[in-house]
Amino acid sequence: MKCIPMQKKVLITGASKGIGLALSRHFLAHNYEVIGTSRTGKIIEITHSSFTPIALDLSKTDSVANALKELESLKVTFDIFINNAGIGPDLNYTEPEQDTYLKTFEVNTTGTTFFIEKMISNITKEGKIIIISSKMGSIEMCSSSCSVAYRMSKAALNMYSKILANKLNGFPKVAVIHPGWVRTMISGDNTSGRLSPEESALGIFDFVISDFDNSAFWDIETQTHLPW
Ligand SMILES: NC(=O)c1ccc[n+]([C@@H]2O[C@H](COP(=O)([O-])OP(=O)(O)OC[C@H]3O[C@@H](n4cnc5c(N)ncnc54)[C@H](OP(=O)(O)O)[C@@H]3O)[C@@H](O)[C@H]2O)c1
Repeated sequence: MKCIPMQKKVLITGASKGIGLALSRHFLAHNYEVIGTSRTGKIIEITHSSFTPIALDLSKTDSVANALKELESLKVTFDIFINNAGIGPDLNYTEPEQDTYLKTFEVNTTGTTFFIEKMISNITKEGKIIIISSKMGSIEMCSSSCSVAYRMSKAALNMYSKILANKLNGFPKVAVIHPGWVRTMISGDNTSGRLSPEESALGIFDFVISDFDNSAFWDIETQTHLPW
């Protein structure tokens, strides 16, 4: 009798558009079971029997609590957890503005951190926690004076990833990814990005399934480690 391998499971936040949507499709094409989030809980772009959409707004504690409840009811332990959801309302703006600053931190930093903290026990010890950050969060590489909230939120998220990797000590492994400059709607109309969402997703997939170093900060576009 032939032994059928268990379908691996991946949770992807922000799966409704851009990089997260392309990533979800890529994992499904590679026979993963995918649970993807969006704020509405509807992702009509994907109609695949191995895909389950759930509602998650990282800026709202009740939405996070409901998503955790729904995930618990599914009784799934994930092999891969990709924290992709993120916003950049002050991308390319020179002056910081308090409302967008607070919103950016709520989603990119506070919401993501506390969602990961609550999810740790639902990831297999041999699994992987991936954080889609940005090289705009690298302090060493920063020579710009714009996008204050976005850069700061990603720099703080990068620090959290280090602390998380120290705590988990490789079980599961943690990595931070810069997905490249990708043609999505994150900054209104990012049409001049060098990569399509599909090209970025392919690079992310290849990195995630590889035996990467714990606590790596990896650039998908150049295939190199980034400075923190
Ligand atoms: N595009 C680039 O060039 C680039 C470069 C570096 C890093 N990144 C990072 O890559 C990630 C994906 O970005 P993208 O370019 O694909 O952006 P995008 O097309 O705007 O997609 C963002 C995703 O996040 C979700 N989202 C937005 N607000 C949310 C909230 N409050 N709670 C939970 N989910 C929320 C959106 O879902 P709904 O709106 O349906 O809820 C959507 O699925 C982000 O973390 C971004 O910082 C992107």
